[in-house]
Amino acid sequence: MNDVSLSSTPVGTAPVPDHVDPALVVDFDYREPAGMEDGDVYAAYSRLHEGPDIPWTIRNGGHWIATRAEDIKWVQESHELFSNKEKSVPAGQMPPMPPITFDPPDHSRYRAVLNPYFAKGRIERDYAEKSRAIIAGLIEGLKPKRECEFISEFSVIAPLMIFWDLVNLPYDERDQFLTWGQHAAGYGTDEQRIAAFKAVQDYLGKLLDRRLDEPGDDVFTGISQWRNNPRYQDRWEIVGMAELVFFGGQDTVASQMGFAMLRLAERPELQQRLKDDPDIIPAAVEELLRRHALSCTGRLVRQDVTRKGASMKAGDLIMTMNPLSGIDPKEYPDPFTVDFDRVSAGHNSLGNGPHKCVGQHLGRMELRVMLEEWSRGMPIVRIDPDKPAPSSHPGPVIGMDQLHLTWDT
Ligand code: HEM
Repeated sequence: MNDVSLSSTPVGTAPVPDHVDPALVVDFDYREPAGMEDGDVYAAYSRLHEGPDIPWTIRNGGHWIATRAEDIKWVQESHELFSNKEKSVPAGQMPPMPPITFDPPDHSRYRAVLNPYFAKGRIERDYAEKSRAIIAGLIEGLKPKRECEFISEFSVIAPLMIFWDLVNLPYDERDQFLTWGQHAAGYGTDEQRIAAFKAVQDYLGKLLDRRLDEPGDDVFTGISQWRNNPRYQDRWEIVGMAELVFFGGQDTVASQMGFAMLRLAERPELQQRLKDDPDIIPAAVEELLRRHALSCTGRLVRQDVTRKGASMKAGDLIMTMNPLSGIDPKEYPDPFTVDFDRVSAGHNSLGNGPHKCVGQHLGRMELRVMLEEWSRGMPIVRIDPDKPAPSSHPGPVIGMDQLHLTWDT
């Protein structure tokens, strides 16, 4: 087995180390931020922008936080200063998952296994039309109902079905996986969620064995063949890679779809624009990605470094608060407003540097196809005033809990 400890660090308030300037200390818990009364996680997180750019929080074992777009990008790009060996906050809660928990050069070896399966050309050539059929089918099922809860009835399901096709898994097992996927995404009890993770892990382990004997053209075949590489060490490498690829592409895409639909349902003129001017859709995808970055991920400081008054010491943890990047008013004017004509300075939502999202082309394609099919197949939708209001949740990957929509057919 590997030598990475899974023991947990005490959660709660931690003493402030001597090297931290007291003026930079805040009490902020990214998993339970103050200000969630309106159910808007971005509004709650944005309170951090009222303080120092790189504060130290006493929560979750104590850690630095990069809150500004320019600093988030700097951390993501500077792997020689910040290691990915510690991704969870508090530390010690994430098993090794190649490539994300490794630094170059080890990172590059694992990453090379995945890259070919997620190349832009391959995604567009082999998967875009299959994904379109899946998304159009889901929309066709919803349309006559005149209402839906978008998260559980669409956004959690679509990425799972698309991934299922992409990795050539048997259709008769899909319903079981859909249930696991919904439970893993938090739709169910805590026991169901834990059981779903375990079930997926067992399933992927057996699948990797099958793919070694009966290879296909999918990413799980590529991962299983890592066993033939002279650098192969142990089974945790391939199971970790498979889990990362599977889970990395589920709640991220589901959340992104949920937040995108929230913004559209709030503003019918945006939906009309997509219907009238479908050429704007790729720009709309980038703008929605900018507005709704999702992941709050940790890094381990590798060597002492000072930035904006924050004296970081080797061994400290720093969190990149991606959700704050796209709503940083120093980077984007009127950052909370979605504007498809915004001349964007780019965004950090899919990461930067060596760990830039391997599934970026798949994720973008899924969002693009959803916007294309939704604006083609659905009437203008609005938030259902008779149902509970939309709400979102904080966490390592933020997301929506519910989004009730209604429409006239
Ligand atoms: C649009 C939705 C998505 C978003 C917002 C997103 C976001 C991100 C971000 C920010 C990172 C970098 C994390 C870091 O620097 O610590 C990342 C890495 C990663 N993502 Fe995504 N992702 C999305 C879709 C996907 C999909 C569809 C897949 C695969 C099926 C995927 C698989 C991965 C993997 C394997 C990594 C690790 C890459 C590495 O360490 O080299 N992601 N993603």
